[in-house]
Amino acid sequence: MKYAQLGRSDLVVSRVCFGCWQLSPKFWGEIDLEQWREALDVALDLGVNFIDTADAYGDGFAESSLGEWLESRKCRDRVIIATKFYHNFEIPDERVPDTSYDYIIRECEASLKRLKTDYIDLYQIHAWDPLTRPEEVAAALTRLRKEGKVRWFGVSNLNADQIRMYSQYFEITSLQPLYNMLDRQVEEHELPVCLEKRIGVLTYSTLARGLLTGKYTPETTFTDHRANSPRFQGETFKRILDAVNSLQPIAEKHGLTIAQLAVRWVLTHPAVTTAIVGVKKREHIETIVDAAEDILPARDWWKAASIVAHAKA
Ligand SMILES: NC(=O)c1ccc[n+]([C@@H]2O[C@H](COP(=O)([O-])OP(=O)(O)OC[C@H]3O[C@@H](n4cnc5c(N)ncnc54)[C@H](OP(=O)(O)O)[C@@H]3O)[C@@H](O)[C@H]2O)c1
Repeated sequence: MKYAQLGRSDLVVSRVCFGCWQLSPKFWGEIDLEQWREALDVALDLGVNFIDTADAYGDGFAESSLGEWLESRKCRDRVIIATKFYHNFEIPDERVPDTSYDYIIRECEASLKRLKTDYIDLYQIHAWDPLTRPEEVAAALTRLRKEGKVRWFGVSNLNADQIRMYSQYFEITSLQPLYNMLDRQVEEHELPVCLEKRIGVLTYSTLARGLLTGKYTPETTFTDHRANSPRFQGETFKRILDAVNSLQPIAEKHGLTIAQLAVRWVLTHPAVTTAIVGVKKREHIETIVDAAEDILPARDWWKAASIVAHAKA
């Protein structure tokens, strides 16, 4: 496994990060927890030391499950935990964005309890909250850091202006954006800001929720949140699958599967520190880690991007 420094922090993270959103039954349906814990064990053995979760994944379920695993394996000191706050889910079915001082302090305590730890390595704002002044967010974060409850702060889903604005109030260690061969919007503004300010990048939906793996056929149907996504239906789905299958020769040339190629593709961008992959079972992580061993030559990076771009046209 290859490792990299995250932004200007002292966190040295594996270039593949274990994503925990799959423990959100509302989106992904019920997954087998035994298999999921086994996947974490395998990840640790393979050198994956970075785990991304959020308070809102399953309204606390993902954090609690991770906390139980951390406690049972006694491995807290071997992993770097990134979690998030933003969605206030204190009132069932009435989720609202909330980055007020009181909520951040309260929610951090709740996350610590669920994760069965006394510190969070990377505490990320899940998305932009237009209703809270940056001074107020910064005051809460400063207190958490002073109390030793949080080591570093990150942001997710923010645009370049929002990143610049927040960075005047507190040190941003990382950005977690949507980035993969199909979704390249952040290349224009956000990734350059990260390079300029030495902000680390954790890509999410690296595999476009599974589309960039080459494992689906036009007959594949989905019973989870993907069933409602236009990309997973009809002509669009078929067009994307055709393009993804056309990546095979590039993948083969580098001894990779298509899923590994998708991970290596994001890791080739110089702003990207680590690729988060959503994991349900050991095969998901076991078969992907080799992608991080190298980057792609520029020619093949562009070739792969243009093949997939045709699917969107
Ligand atoms: N900050 C945010 O707003 C945000 C948003 C989304 C995600 N995230 C984070 O990013 C992580 C990953 O993103 P994502 O959940 O959108 O999905 P993703 O990583 O793009 O795709 C996950 C899906 O890909 C398939 N898969 C995973 N590994 C595979 C492998 N090695 N070979 C073949 N198929 C594989 C599985 O599909 P099947 O289920 O079909 O097997 C899995 O459910 C999340 O867990 C979460 O930590 C953050």
